[in-house]
Amino acid sequence: MQLKFWLGASVLATAAMFGSAPASAQGSLVMYCGVQEEWCRAMSTAFEKETGIKVAMTRKSAGEVYAQVKAEASNPRGDIWWGGTGDPHLQAAEEGLTEEYESAMNKDLQDWSLSQWKAAKKRAIGIYAGALGFGFNTQLIKEKGLADPKCWADLLNPKLKDDVQVADPNSSGTAYTLLATVVQLMGEDKGFDYLRALHKNVSQYTKSGAAPAKAASLGETAVGIVFIHDAVVFAVQGDPIKPVAPCEGTGYEIGSMSIIKGARNLENAKKFYDWALTPAAQALGAPAKSYQVPSNKNAPIPPQAPKMSDMKLINYDFVKYGSSAERTRLLTKWDKEIKAQPK
Ligand code: G6P
Repeated sequence: MQLKFWLGASVLATAAMFGSAPASAQGSLVMYCGVQEEWCRAMSTAFEKETGIKVAMTRKSAGEVYAQVKAEASNPRGDIWWGGTGDPHLQAAEEGLTEEYESAMNKDLQDWSLSQWKAAKKRAIGIYAGALGFGFNTQLIKEKGLADPKCWADLLNPKLKDDVQVADPNSSGTAYTLLATVVQLMGEDKGFDYLRALHKNVSQYTKSGAAPAKAASLGETAVGIVFIHDAVVFAVQGDPIKPVAPCEGTGYEIGSMSIIKGARNLENAKKFYDWALTPAAQALGAPAKSYQVPSNKNAPIPPQAPKMSDMKLINYDFVKYGSSAERTRLLTKWDKEIKAQPK
């Protein structure tokens, strides 16, 4: 062991003399990422380049990351959970699965980012925001002789049977945001009546929240219920998909970041956390075709980002719908009263 130690020390000393230490000297970081793969890769690559810290990144949907962090709680594998909707991050915070942390960057963050941090008792923080809506395939809607859908109610049209796609709220933060949004917008009973009626038109509940946008852009489905910015990705590249902010009003997400409790690379997780809140890091979204609104006031807002100020947004109760009891109760009710129902 002695020999091994000295060898390590001499390598470090040499590297220090002739430029940056080898990546191994900076250690590593295990990153669970909840946004689209391209943005996840851009973040992990940029951080590694800047710090020399070796990043092992995996992309999963928000509900899946929460389940993994919970399953690994007694023997944590992950260090930082970056991205994905805020509700599962809040549930993890309440269940003590994430670490309290206060970054010097907090002073530059939007109020909604800090409200997430306070709701999570400092265990999660807002990194981006985006409103929920849908994208429809303009060609398929025209072929069906339908007017352009503008409202949640339009998605119940029997002519859209098996032609609506949305993710499963157990795995997808996007779909859980839909579940919590209709309950807040319509009331729980009418909200579940809506979801029961919508169920007849849903061809499949995907695992990933953004998948229905791609399906709609390819004409595999007429409507994909997603965050509006996920439909914009395909619209700006000329695909026949039109993003919609529903007329009745809609909910939104505060994409979040948490340090996993018991992180083996805790110092590197804190370095990533501070770095990910900088304008430069938050500016990596747009080139990675992610058009959310960043949480640092000095970060550029992508010109493609949907204008949330133009939308009718509900006052989404993140504390309630991010709580362990409520999220568990709603998901159990959805499984029983919606997913299990015949079409
Ligand atoms: C996409 C969106 C993000 C959202 C995430 C949730 O990446 O662009 O804004 O947070 O999906 O993913 P999920 O698969 O959990 O719905």
